[in-house]
Amino acid sequence: CSTSKTSKLAYCIKGTFVHSTDSSPMEILQDHIMGVNSNGKIEFFENARKQVELAKKWRFSESDIRELGSHEFCMPGMVDTHIHASQYSFSGTALDLSLLDWLDKYTFPTERKYKEAEFAKTIYSSIVRRTLRNGTTTACYFATIYTDSSLLLAEIANNYGQRAFVGKVCMDINNCAANYKETTDESIAETERFIKEFLERKYCRVKPIITPRFAVSCSEELLQELGELAKIHGTHIQSHISEAVGEVESVKTLFPNYKHYTDVYDKSKLLTDKTVMAHGCYLSDEELAIFRERGAAISHCPNSNISLCSGHLDVRKVLKHKVKIGLGTDVAGGYCSSMLDAIRRAIDTSKVLYIQYELGQKIDCSFLHTGSSHSNQQTMPTSKTFSIQKEKYTALSYKEAFRLATLGGSQALNIDDVTGNFQIGKEFDAILVSPCVPGGPFDVFADDTFEDVVQKFLNLGDDRNIKGVYVAGQQVVPLPNA
Ligand code: GUN
Ligand code: FE
Repeated sequence: CSTSKTSKLAYCIKGTFVHSTDSSPMEILQDHIMGVNSNGKIEFFENARKQVELAKKWRFSESDIRELGSHEFCMPGMVDTHIHASQYSFSGTALDLSLLDWLDKYTFPTERKYKEAEFAKTIYSSIVRRTLRNGTTTACYFATIYTDSSLLLAEIANNYGQRAFVGKVCMDINNCAANYKETTDESIAETERFIKEFLERKYCRVKPIITPRFAVSCSEELLQELGELAKIHGTHIQSHISEAVGEVESVKTLFPNYKHYTDVYDKSKLLTDKTVMAHGCYLSDEELAIFRERGAAISHCPNSNISLCSGHLDVRKVLKHKVKIGLGTDVAGGYCSSMLDAIRRAIDTSKVLYIQYELGQKIDCSFLHTGSSHSNQQTMPTSKTFSIQKEKYTALSYKEAFRLATLGGSQALNIDDVTGNFQIGKEFDAILVSPCVPGGPFDVFADDTFEDVVQKFLNLGDDRNIKGVYVAGQQVVPLPNA
């Protein structure tokens, strides 16, 4: 991975930039100029008033500047903190079951097919291309139990220029239904081989991630060995936690000597500051406190939580515990591979919780049920039904959801020193948004403010509005041969 010490200016972009910082979920910086150097890093980012000064210092001329159109803007590339590349082939289908049955009936039989390199190559190329087109510059992928085809996913992500984590899935128990499992020894040996061969390839921006599927599929011995491997190699870790009621019940039965679900992973050294756990709908305050202490993160996957009727994650509760959190599409439990959908579903979920917490307490619903034989059983859920909310509950704003999809995701994956917003020194991972495209998905009117335009894109936009995608300064969309 070559970066030269003396970097030259590669190009400049001038126009409106939208990004998040720790103190502000959304900054809209109009009439700014950004310089990207030959290492793909942001060299300067200033008000365009300074253009003459900057041009002198960095020796660029007007022709080196790419000027954005009046409604166009640059925003950070989105970070999908949880996606199953191997499930893309059936995304948009098979959403009629709850988690454990869904895994047995649809997921494991599909993942078995990835033993075949040709099949894997087709689907993996499609999902990498699709996510890039949708503006996902970083993806944290689950592959399957097969080491060689998981390595192929890493190669494909690298070839297309996506920043990615790729995990060979580990699972040694409870998966007999589809004959899709490995022995404990195989799982450990293959994970070691996966990491070794992965690291030999020396990809710049694609890294291995240790991936126990979830506690239901992993023996105690396997979890502990994977914790050791992560420690030895300093690798990232991903899994699922507390996603659905049936799953949480199974973990209680399978691991009776542990305090709770979080304790199972924690005792195996699988909760570190490089860990991202998907879902977490049913985590208690005590468990979230452990996440905070370990620096482990949560991937909020709202489409999947709703599609598989798993539950809702209360993002406010997670934020209150100061636990790192990003968004995930969780394809194919989540039916959409676009992070714009994850933003929308995160806002929806948060509004559902607001309705339950705030309106459910205030409105006397009894009049709705007069005459019904069940009238005294039908009460709206209140804050008491869910976690304890003493202050007034507010739904997530679109700005907060935007931060979760960008900076939040980079923090969750512990790569916020490299990407996530437009801080000087970070790599330029960005999408160029063009709100006004012929035949596009929404309209912009003369009285729309720039905030309105950004909000319309987040709520209504799609890949037709994404004119360019950049990872570490390199343009990766439009795709070659697109
Ligand atoms: N828990 C264990 N495996 C899976 C999976 O593939 N998808 C989801 N949503 N949850 C899981
Ligand atoms: Fe998942």
